[in-house]
Amino acid sequence: MKIGIDKIGFYAPHLYVDMNKLAEARNVEPEKFTIGIGQEKMAIAPITQDPVTLAANAALGILDDEDKASIDFVIFGTESGIDNSKSAGVYVHRLLGLNPYARNIELKQACYGATAAIQMAKGHVALNPDSKVLVLASDIARYGLHTSGESTQGAGAVALLISAEPKIMALEEHSAYLTDDIMDFWRPIYSDKAFVDGKFSNEQYIVFFQKVWEAYKAKAGLGLADFEAICFHLPYTKMGLKALRTILDQGSEEDQERLLANYKVSTIYNRNVGNIYTGSLYLSLLSLLEQKEDLKDGSRIGLFSYGSGAVGEFFTGILQPDYRNYLNIAHHSNLFESRKEITVSEYERIFEETLPVDGSTVELGIANDPAAICLSGMQDNMRLYVNKLHKTM
Ligand code: COA
Repeated sequence: MKIGIDKIGFYAPHLYVDMNKLAEARNVEPEKFTIGIGQEKMAIAPITQDPVTLAANAALGILDDEDKASIDFVIFGTESGIDNSKSAGVYVHRLLGLNPYARNIELKQACYGATAAIQMAKGHVALNPDSKVLVLASDIARYGLHTSGESTQGAGAVALLISAEPKIMALEEHSAYLTDDIMDFWRPIYSDKAFVDGKFSNEQYIVFFQKVWEAYKAKAGLGLADFEAICFHLPYTKMGLKALRTILDQGSEEDQERLLANYKVSTIYNRNVGNIYTGSLYLSLLSLLEQKEDLKDGSRIGLFSYGSGAVGEFFTGILQPDYRNYLNIAHHSNLFESRKEITVSEYERIFEETLPVDGSTVELGIANDPAAICLSGMQDNMRLYVNKLHKTM
């Protein structure tokens, strides 16, 4: 039985900052951000969007009534969760009207959470072939104004429906994974901003990639020639390129050209959204699938997942017959086209906006947010959500 990605959806908030303008405001050369880091636009979440609403909006675009009835497991990968106890997926479950006879959990290991969720989903479907699992990867990346990580922020979510006989990509058997206790990036529970040792993190990302790639090759007996493309976790689009370059000499000139060209396509969406932590690798996969029109059915795609702290994994999938027919290309292209640019000072104001932490009531202006699902306010320390399509509170 094949198991893998049956549907894939994406959502980013409707606001963004142009990286050239951020560079100007921070007094650095624009090329540092657009070439050195490799980012053009950075998605900014208004206060009416949080990881719950971003994930729910991503899933809303792909699920039909049959999916909603068959999903019996929701796994929410995030590292910017809103509650230390309740899973963010439980809110999404209600907002989308999913089958109540379902499991629902949140998983955390920095940007690796969604990959763990996919592997868990694969196991669940292997035991329950009629089940569908909704994997959500949703985050708002915050390093702080005027920090060195500022240019690698972003916000967005990817929703993946994992099932038997998937229409888009079947996951293959082999995968290689690695854990090492390092402090390259972390966020203590008292902080709403991440701490990062950027240079060390870059270095460890590459070390992890090389180790899991070698371990994968030993397990699977495959090499670069067997891959049409390799997608990477992308905290910023230059990062994956740095890792890919370290193994390119293992392939022929043709392999190198193909992998570099496809890498570029796999970064288009990320370059225009920024870092979405858990969803970054899957946004890159989506970019490749939707933007490379001649990517053939049957192609093998490699996926490198990295979650600081750190856990890394390399695994693979095979594109299924007519997979392009099951993508949501027009919906995603419309999402990108309808975004609105904001100034650096507007971004700074939004960044500093906070929700009450004293139990007081606040009502938020959701009329300004075009998303179907929004955070509408807070009351008694509870977040209030609305699905404008269902008028659900
Ligand atoms: N034109 C072109 N490139 C330029 C440039 C210019 N005018 N000015 C600088 N650059 C390049 C640098 O050479 C460097 O490239 P390199 O890494 O290939 O050598 C790149 O731009 C970044 O410059 P650097 O001085 O290293 O930037 P920085 O000290 O501001 O830090 C990060 C950059 C990425 C380390 C920092 O933003 C960060 O820590 N981000 C968070 C990363 C993260 O999320 N890690 C954890 C998850 S994996």
